[in-house]
Amino acid sequence: MIKRKILITGASKGIGLAIAKKLSSKYELILHASKPESFTFEIPDSHILCADFSDPNQLTAFCKQLKKEHGDHLYGVINNAGLTFDNSLIFQSEKDIDKMIQVNLKAPIMICKTVMKIFNLNKTGIIINMSSVVGETGNAFQSVYAATKAGLVSFSKSLAQEAAALNHDHNIRVISLSPGFIETDMTLNLPETEKEKYLKMIPSRRFGQATDIANYVSFLMSDEAAYVNGTNIHINGGLL
Ligand SMILES: NC(=O)c1ccc[n+]([C@@H]2O[C@H](COP(=O)([O-])OP(=O)(O)OC[C@H]3O[C@@H](n4cnc5c(N)ncnc54)[C@H](OP(=O)(O)O)[C@@H]3O)[C@@H](O)[C@H]2O)c1
Repeated sequence: MIKRKILITGASKGIGLAIAKKLSSKYELILHASKPESFTFEIPDSHILCADFSDPNQLTAFCKQLKKEHGDHLYGVINNAGLTFDNSLIFQSEKDIDKMIQVNLKAPIMICKTVMKIFNLNKTGIIINMSSVVGETGNAFQSVYAATKAGLVSFSKSLAQEAAALNHDHNIRVISLSPGFIETDMTLNLPETEKEKYLKMIPSRRFGQATDIANYVSFLMSDEAAYVNGTNIHINGGLL
């Protein structure tokens, strides 16, 4: 049986790597990171496609290569790559602001633009855009990061509606996912006092693991989740 092909961006570590491990037995994976050296492991039956999304030229080349090499059989995309530079807006450099917008928001938008053409022709496909709890709650010292994540929520809802407007008879789903506090490199260096503050706000009384997100993504990719569309899903142990 031919396996469905799925692109996972930011698959070298953290949430993206956990998703890649979870999906690897069922799907043919296209794994992305900013550079090939970021991959320190091998996943059988997978392809590597790298690009630093903060560089607009690399993003354009990535989208072209994705379409050329994998366009025909692409079934799913998980736009997971992301970065943050936590700082007061007053002191945030324009370079860091541009980087967060380019990697967290522009890259998913351009990848969706590329794959929606394919999905509209095939009348099937699924996109999961990785947002964040702070896209809804906001967070001090993450104003630009939070804005990019909030943008992904309305972008995903709009795209789901657009797919329906273009195709009456279709099975294209666009969903955003909002993880809470997940223990990865992204949260590793937060001060202990910050971590303790968050923990008190989480009813499940633990931080999330990358596998908590991967397990849910696996469900969303499956046909059992066929009626989940055009919405934002929180996975945060109750932190809101
Ligand atoms: N951890 C959390 O608590 C949390 C909560 C809510 C939402 N999220 C979101 O979940 C996603 C994954 O987060 P994570 O915690 O797993 O982060 P992570 O461990 O830091 O991994 C980030 C991934 O994104 C890739 N990436 C970073 N900068 C890039 C760039 N300029 N161009 C291309 N790829 C780039 C990295 O590739 P390289 O290895 O090549 O750098 C890596 O694969 C992000 O979108 C994040 O905003 C995380």
